[in-house]
Amino acid sequence: MKRYTITAALPYTNGPVHIGHMAGVYVPADIFARYLRCKGEDVIFICGSDEHGVPITLRARKEGITPQQLVDKYHTIIKNSFAEFGISFDIYHRTSDPVHHQTASDFFKTLYDKNIFTEEESEQYFDEEAQLFLADRYITGTCPNCGNDNAYGDQCEKCGKSLSPKELINPHSQLSGKAPVLKKTKHWYLPLDKMQKDWLEAWIKSHDGDWKNNVSGQCKSWLDQGLQPRAVTRDLDWGVPVPLSGAKGKVLYVWFDAPIGYISATKALFESQESGARNQDKTTLKSGNWELYWKDKDTKLIHFIGKDNIVFHCIIFPAMLKAHGDFILPENIPANEFLNLEGEKISTSRNWAVWLNEYLEDFPGKQDVLRYVLCATAPETKDNDFTWKDFQARNNSELVAILGNFVNRTLVLTKKYFDGKVPQYADLTDDDKACIKAMKETPALISNSLEKYRFREALSELMNLARLGNKYLADNEPWKKFESDPKRTGTILYISLEITAYLAVLMEPFLPHTSEKLMNMLLIEKKKWDEVLGKQVLSVGHQLGEASLLFEKIEDDAIEKQVEKLRKTKESAVQSAITNPPSAIAFKSPTTFDDFNKMDIRIGTILTAERVPKTEKLLKLTIDTGIDQRTVVSGIAQYYDPEKIIGQQVSILVNLEPRKIKGIESMGMILMAENSNGELSFVAPVKNTDNGSAVK
Ligand code: MF3
Ligand code: ZN
Repeated sequence: MKRYTITAALPYTNGPVHIGHMAGVYVPADIFARYLRCKGEDVIFICGSDEHGVPITLRARKEGITPQQLVDKYHTIIKNSFAEFGISFDIYHRTSDPVHHQTASDFFKTLYDKNIFTEEESEQYFDEEAQLFLADRYITGTCPNCGNDNAYGDQCEKCGKSLSPKELINPHSQLSGKAPVLKKTKHWYLPLDKMQKDWLEAWIKSHDGDWKNNVSGQCKSWLDQGLQPRAVTRDLDWGVPVPLSGAKGKVLYVWFDAPIGYISATKALFESQESGARNQDKTTLKSGNWELYWKDKDTKLIHFIGKDNIVFHCIIFPAMLKAHGDFILPENIPANEFLNLEGEKISTSRNWAVWLNEYLEDFPGKQDVLRYVLCATAPETKDNDFTWKDFQARNNSELVAILGNFVNRTLVLTKKYFDGKVPQYADLTDDDKACIKAMKETPALISNSLEKYRFREALSELMNLARLGNKYLADNEPWKKFESDPKRTGTILYISLEITAYLAVLMEPFLPHTSEKLMNMLLIEKKKWDEVLGKQVLSVGHQLGEASLLFEKIEDDAIEKQVEKLRKTKESAVQSAITNPPSAIAFKSPTTFDDFNKMDIRIGTILTAERVPKTEKLLKLTIDTGIDQRTVVSGIAQYYDPEKIIGQQVSILVNLEPRKIKGIESMGMILMAENSNGELSFVAPVKNTDNGSAVK
């Protein structure tokens, strides 16, 4: 490969960035980009603000400002947070920039001229007073399901049902308050159905095995359902105008324009470079022009994203690029799952999050600690949980006790015995040689893991090197030998210093601030990995700089403060639920205890689970109910992998009449909780209990 184009999902500009975004997207993307630079690869690392879309216009209305003012505010906050955390974008651009508008507009025009789109007329609600078509969210009315008077055109938030605007009873416009009228409107569609057959399905299949399982899995389920044509335009006044005559009041759909933002950002990067306007502190000047990074087949295009973006990056954007014709397609899309916070889903609207800007106020200077913890707990293969206790433990018993402690002991002892100069070494023992060998093998281990997008594994290889150093010092006890054998002490410290230098170089992608600090302490320059690794990094007699602690202990009270902050968030959510209770109309009509008691619900354990062939939703389960073992067919395949639920306890209605489902006799029903998005999760006891326990 000649070069890499690395992109990180463009964050929506309607709020700051939180730890979930960092762990899922920006920390791994940054580690990868920095790693490639360390290897001397030609790489550009691209990101920017995603500033269009309906949620942004709604939020701006709510705050009483214009969409542009809203995105200006958050663009600055987000950009600064990324810079503070050392996320080393070559450019952080934005989709409200004229370069982007032009690029997205031209892109659409090219597809239009090539006759890619299909055109369709449909009837949509129109506000005659405001003279605007209404996005689903701009229409409210009465929910046909539960009678809630404030249901939105896409969903009723009271009963959770997803709706289309035409289902609302007595709809009215959020803009004028008046009843909207149905009016014909024309839109342009990307014919994904046709593309699926022509090449898309085969292309995605060709990546089986090299894309992560969670990514291939989601793609497969989209393809299995059969792709549908997608509208790429909207009736809205915020976005990139559709560049056709007769398309007044229409803009490109936000998911059409946003990924083109990666391309416009690349253009802007080269433009600013040409004009000399770019700050060249961190990264080197790029050679060539923007087109090489998007059109040359020797370029690897890699998108870092969260799992909710998979369909857009694996299906829709590639479909757009291919239809355009000039562009390369992504090589890989290493999407992560989600990070939870203290056992609960991170939520912007409920303020259940750790915001980067707030973290920095509470833990100034501790950017690398958060980077470390988020990388170590990154939700690479499944959702994962961030807890403040774990954050503290990883800081205190890993960063301080292992990495910091090793480096500090080495530097302090060198200062004490050798005046801070790298000592002479002689007569290497077998233990010395084994230690040096393990040290020299570490870079390949880290590279290997990183190239497979296994960031947690790579980080633990780095920490293993620090562990090795600690053990080497403990086994060889240089502090006991100086009096009798200064030469031996010199050799031990020389080897420890080499390990320290390796650590300084190898930690750069993960802990860039700490790496810089340590290099300053060692008085060595930042170099490409090939120039140092496998070689002698420090020469004998080299004078080291001043040592200081790399990490400091985080005390209980700092952690308690954070836990308390979250507790307050929860408390105020409970308070507001008490003062604004949902209306009873959202519930089913009353029932009697006797009726309820007719149901025999027990706790059981899943013993086996397999997919029911030729279905998408069904799993065939064997359940130990404490009374018997029985077969149950359950429609949960979209939410649970059969391999992962063996041993899971569930609630099961055991006296439901048996039913034949796909030829299988199903004996009972597994109880599930369904959220407002229709997602299912098991209803299970909080701690494991006996099978057969009654639920009442
Ligand atoms: N703004 C989207 C999100 O936060 C991501 C956009 S990625 C891009 O989910 F490809 F469209 F740029
Ligand atoms: Zn409802």
